[in-house]
Amino acid sequence: MSNQVSRFSRLLITKPMDVLLSEAQESGEHSLKRALGPINLVTLGIGAIIGAGIFVLTGAAAAQYAGPAIVLSFVLAGIACVFAGLCYAEFASLIPIAGSAYTYGYATLGELFAWIIGWDLILEYAFGAATVSSGWSGYFLSLMNDFGIHIPPALTSAPGTKLVLFGGNWEHLARVQNTIQAAGIDPASLPQMTASFNLVAFLAIMAVTTILVIGIKESANFNSAIVIVKVGIVLVFIVIAGAYVIENPEKTISVNWKDFIPPNTGDFGSYGWSGIARAASVIFFAYIGFDAVSTAAQEAKNPQKDMPIGIMGSLAICTVLYILVSGLLTAVVPYTSLNVAEPVAIGIDATGVKWGSYLVKAGAIFGLGTVMLVMLLGQSRVFYSMAHDGLLPKWAGKVHPRFRTPYISTILVGFCVALFGALLPINILGELVSIGTLLAFVIVSAGVWVLRKRKPELQRPFKTPWVPFVPLMGILVSGLLMLSLPFDTWMRLIVWLV
Ligand code: ALA
Repeated sequence: MSNQVSRFSRLLITKPMDVLLSEAQESGEHSLKRALGPINLVTLGIGAIIGAGIFVLTGAAAAQYAGPAIVLSFVLAGIACVFAGLCYAEFASLIPIAGSAYTYGYATLGELFAWIIGWDLILEYAFGAATVSSGWSGYFLSLMNDFGIHIPPALTSAPGTKLVLFGGNWEHLARVQNTIQAAGIDPASLPQMTASFNLVAFLAIMAVTTILVIGIKESANFNSAIVIVKVGIVLVFIVIAGAYVIENPEKTISVNWKDFIPPNTGDFGSYGWSGIARAASVIFFAYIGFDAVSTAAQEAKNPQKDMPIGIMGSLAICTVLYILVSGLLTAVVPYTSLNVAEPVAIGIDATGVKWGSYLVKAGAIFGLGTVMLVMLLGQSRVFYSMAHDGLLPKWAGKVHPRFRTPYISTILVGFCVALFGALLPINILGELVSIGTLLAFVIVSAGVWVLRKRKPELQRPFKTPWVPFVPLMGILVSGLLMLSLPFDTWMRLIVWLV
């Protein structure tokens, strides 16, 4: 019995702070390279954040759950992220180690929690990158089709996906079935086939993996260049749609925002206030990524000062952009028409700017590209830290002597994620990513509070304000968003962690 107790208490052993702090100081050819400044870190965050959430999910969430009040859903999900972000900022400046939430869990709650959260972060980063690669392939194929380049349809989607030839393009049958039937056509009368492998998603992940192996500075520069393009395209949308709304208030705000919060239909989550909450849990995916900045802590030049800037700066910029984009989108297009794969492209089309939809598609392709990059970066750094602590084999933490990147774990992670993206359907992956991320938020928020109690004397370069209010709100709001996800997703989370 006492043996079992001691074995259990070993599972709750925490990693000493002085060991962590000395690991954070390591340098030399077997350690990661400190190359990132505050601007790199903010762009890394924006690179991970703006992606499928705003470009794809916003439309369906507005159409099905919240109407124009999707703007309030973005505010709500943004607030949840600010609480968690403030907690991440304290940890990332105090323990600037690549393992992020995994390391914070190890320092405060013990090895068992560290192990759980290490696997939980795989849900967020590896499955997140896989989800986005699948969405990326959709936008890429759509743009290629616009230019008359056709990739063999069997190689464009996960195995078993039913495709139908409609309007000259091979489309997902499930997505266009209603449109086909509404046009009075029987889908069975059109040519159909079943996909076998999403080669486009596979190659996208392998290309991003190559950049990541070559170097952190190269990866960060590539990311920064693309972030400028994608934020530029989001701003172009805001300017064009904003000007259109100002010039035509009678065609936009007065009509489309008349029912700003459409009345609840009687079902929980179907418009009204409950619809705003349901939409917030869906578009929460759009905010995922600011926490990935903390996995670059060991590669930051001055993590104590710059980590909070990277995390909170990227979160603040994206929150403002999201509120503007979702507000303008529902002003220019009736929310009932937004349940499409490319809602932002529809929005810009509605303003009469003909080249707009090409621009938005290009923005999504760039945008989703950097999300994959930063998610994969995060995943390989978590493995690097776990290998360092002996929770994974040593080779997973091996750093390339020339590139100074954890190349073995980067290549292995890249290959597995490429296979996930090529073989698995994205809808299941997406919710799993959200629940995994929310669990990490809960643990990090709890960790800040625990460490304040246990080690009040530590010098904290950045202090989460109003402890315990902020961590408690981080736990509560993230917990509530977790509760609004379907039961099946909870089961998958539990099975995965077991
Ligand atoms: N926030 C990222 C996206 O929306 C995961 O694609």
